[in-house]
Amino acid sequence: MVNQNRNPKWFDEGYRHIWMPYTQMGNSPLPEAVKATEGVRIFLENGRDLIDGVSSWWTACHGYNHPTILAALSEQLQTMPHVMLAGLSNEPAFNLARRLAGLTPGDLNRVFFSESGSVSVEIALKMAVQYWRNLGQHDRNKFVAFRNAYHGDTIGTMSVSDPDELMHRPFAGMAPQQFILDLPVDQISEQKILSFLEEQAEQCAGIIVEPLVQGAGGMIFHDPRTLAFLREACDKFNLILIFDEIMVGFGRLGTMFACEQANVVPDIMTLSKSLTGGTIALAATIATDRIFEAFATDKIEDCLMHGPTYTGNALACAAANASLDLFESEPRLDQIKKIETHLKQSLEPCRQISGVVDVRVWGGIGVVELSSLGDMHWMRQRFIQEGCWVRPFGNVIYLMPPYIINADDLARLTDATLKITHEWSVKFGNVN
Ligand SMILES: Cc1ncc(COP(=O)(O)O)c(C=O)c1O
Repeated sequence: MVNQNRNPKWFDEGYRHIWMPYTQMGNSPLPEAVKATEGVRIFLENGRDLIDGVSSWWTACHGYNHPTILAALSEQLQTMPHVMLAGLSNEPAFNLARRLAGLTPGDLNRVFFSESGSVSVEIALKMAVQYWRNLGQHDRNKFVAFRNAYHGDTIGTMSVSDPDELMHRPFAGMAPQQFILDLPVDQISEQKILSFLEEQAEQCAGIIVEPLVQGAGGMIFHDPRTLAFLREACDKFNLILIFDEIMVGFGRLGTMFACEQANVVPDIMTLSKSLTGGTIALAATIATDRIFEAFATDKIEDCLMHGPTYTGNALACAAANASLDLFESEPRLDQIKKIETHLKQSLEPCRQISGVVDVRVWGGIGVVELSSLGDMHWMRQRFIQEGCWVRPFGNVIYLMPPYIINADDLARLTDATLKITHEWSVKFGNVN
């Protein structure tokens, strides 16, 4: 293992006390000790550096340490890192709400801030249920969600994620029961949903979906037509449509928001990940005027009953405003187009390798789907040896680099992917 010999004191003293995410602490390789970040690079304590091929869990869209975001953070830090939002207000949060309302399509005009993607989805679910209760419909408590979906790790979000995914399997039976159906990708699956809704729609508050790409469930793409179908079904059966844009929002698929490609406006949208350009935790749940108006009455019990301590955190909102400035001042969508072109050309040869099931690219996401990963740790370590930070999972190798990556660094990521896929094929390609 690359890292074991030269770990600093803080690592050795802290490792025996930390509990790492999604990690079998009993036998996983030790994490790399990181000293600093810059641009697309992660600098390790052992003197090496890695090109980040996954933008730190899909957040660092402008690369690390972008001076515009750092300057906004340090200025905000001097004046007011945080003040509670209930009864008080702050300029970065109000500015960000206004800007997000302007940027998102249709009349998604009301922004509720929280501090993680999962919590923003929990809020979306609560918003949908309370919307119906405020209108006197108390039986609409369930949601339709989809196989291979992933919406977070909290209990409510687990309930609308695929229950068979490794991450949620240990908790089977714990979360509330929802209706988990096949994503409507053809006439047969569309018809199944329509028949289901004929029977059950009256106990449902809404439908939740990751638009265009189901991420943590396997980087599975679907046609914009699916979103148009879900919009029509929600209109027909009077359901609230929630788009979880936490992974795909802010340009990842080549448009600012994925739903633009389907010309569909959801009733509620969730955002996080790239919202602060990968600097600080922040998430947003954005509702249309119609949803908001059902809460804005003269009865206290009608108000949205949710209030995270750090909602509207000024520091995080300042970072997000700076990130939006960068989308305005730098050619992000053009950069994503270039990444897409490169990924398409250079990952395509993987398709010829024995054991590769599919190669697919959409915007700044490139996926090589394998029959199975074989040994996930072997593969992750091989990428590190090649100077790349890439985290294959399930049966996919995927790349989601920062948008500012240059052609040489991107080629290093795709060359490494091709090389390691070849090696994998020899080592594990026949193992299913
Ligand atoms: C589509 C989607 N929704 C929700 C989440 C949960 O976000 P967080 O990890 O910030 O709670 C994720 C995280 O990967 C995600 O990809």
